[in-house]
Amino acid sequence: MSIEFDDDFSERIVTTSQTSEDSGEPSLRPKTMTEYIGQAKAKENLAVFIEAARRRGEPLDHVLLYGPPGLGKTTLAGIIANEMGVNIRVTSGPAIEKAGDLAALLTNLSENDILFIDEIHRLDRSVEEILYPAMEDYALDIIIGKGPSARSIRLDLPKFTLIGATTRAGQMTSPLRDRFGVMLRLELYSPEELQQIVARSAEILQVKAEPEGTYEIARRSRGTPRIANRMLRRVRDFAEVRFDGVITREAADIALRALEIDELGLDSVDRRMLRSIMTAFDGGPVGLDTLAATIGEEAVTLEDVYEPYLMQIGFLNRTPRGRCVTALAYEHLDINPDISKMPEQFRLDGI
Ligand code: ADE
Repeated sequence: MSIEFDDDFSERIVTTSQTSEDSGEPSLRPKTMTEYIGQAKAKENLAVFIEAARRRGEPLDHVLLYGPPGLGKTTLAGIIANEMGVNIRVTSGPAIEKAGDLAALLTNLSENDILFIDEIHRLDRSVEEILYPAMEDYALDIIIGKGPSARSIRLDLPKFTLIGATTRAGQMTSPLRDRFGVMLRLELYSPEELQQIVARSAEILQVKAEPEGTYEIARRSRGTPRIANRMLRRVRDFAEVRFDGVITREAADIALRALEIDELGLDSVDRRMLRSIMTAFDGGPVGLDTLAATIGEEAVTLEDVYEPYLMQIGFLNRTPRGRCVTALAYEHLDINPDISKMPEQFRLDGI
């Protein structure tokens, strides 16, 4: 099996985007279903579909993986390829600029290979239309010539599996969504699952970690393995410089505090967002775009990266009239919900 990556990256400690660091140590990625921790429902279903396809000697049906970023969609695609014993070609929606780019990718596949398209909701419409016959009939329709003499010829493609990944299944066009035979939603991980992931990664990185240390990282990594593994590397730095190289609870706590990640894994953007709703909008409801403009972040980033975890821990509600914070969030930030009792500096510019 071979994996070819074609990604772009951005950097930030709680970012759920892939960073060069993540791809620099691909050995942290599990390679088999057995090594892959959590996502029990998705794994169970996939195991059946993979076994059935293998027995028939056919490619797996097209798979759509959706859910918040950083939960292991690319990793899972690699595992599917491994279990099917086929090659995988990895690319992303925005990286495929022209219809010809996709045609080139498709014609270079071998029988039963997997094409993985990350952020598939960001495919250009003209590119997406090439995918319809490719997914349905393993065919590529090419238009030759222009005007009245233009004609279309159909090229056969090898039978292949498309695995699409998206953080926003709702933003995909229905013709594309409907062509996936298997749709799997990935969920945020529990602290216990993340602890297993951190312990496994620590072993691979050959750093000693006490269970209290791995648990501290796990419970502060917002349900996301990519964040947990990134935190582990930073905590390892602190542990090596200040704690004889062992990741204890104290080492993890000191490292994460230094990175301004609080007890629940919230970073400065989370806190600014919650405080802004409390102080500027009296707890909400406030529309997403207004909120994004107030704190100077992009609306899609708030929606995809920040909100899922804040909602999971019961700090934020999405209502038809906008976002509202909960009593739990007030308590965590130690802010009095009664605006008249709020300290002056919060009322004026507490954001
Ligand atoms: N690394 C990232 N996601 C993982 C998972 N689900 N299991 C094990 N290691 C991982």
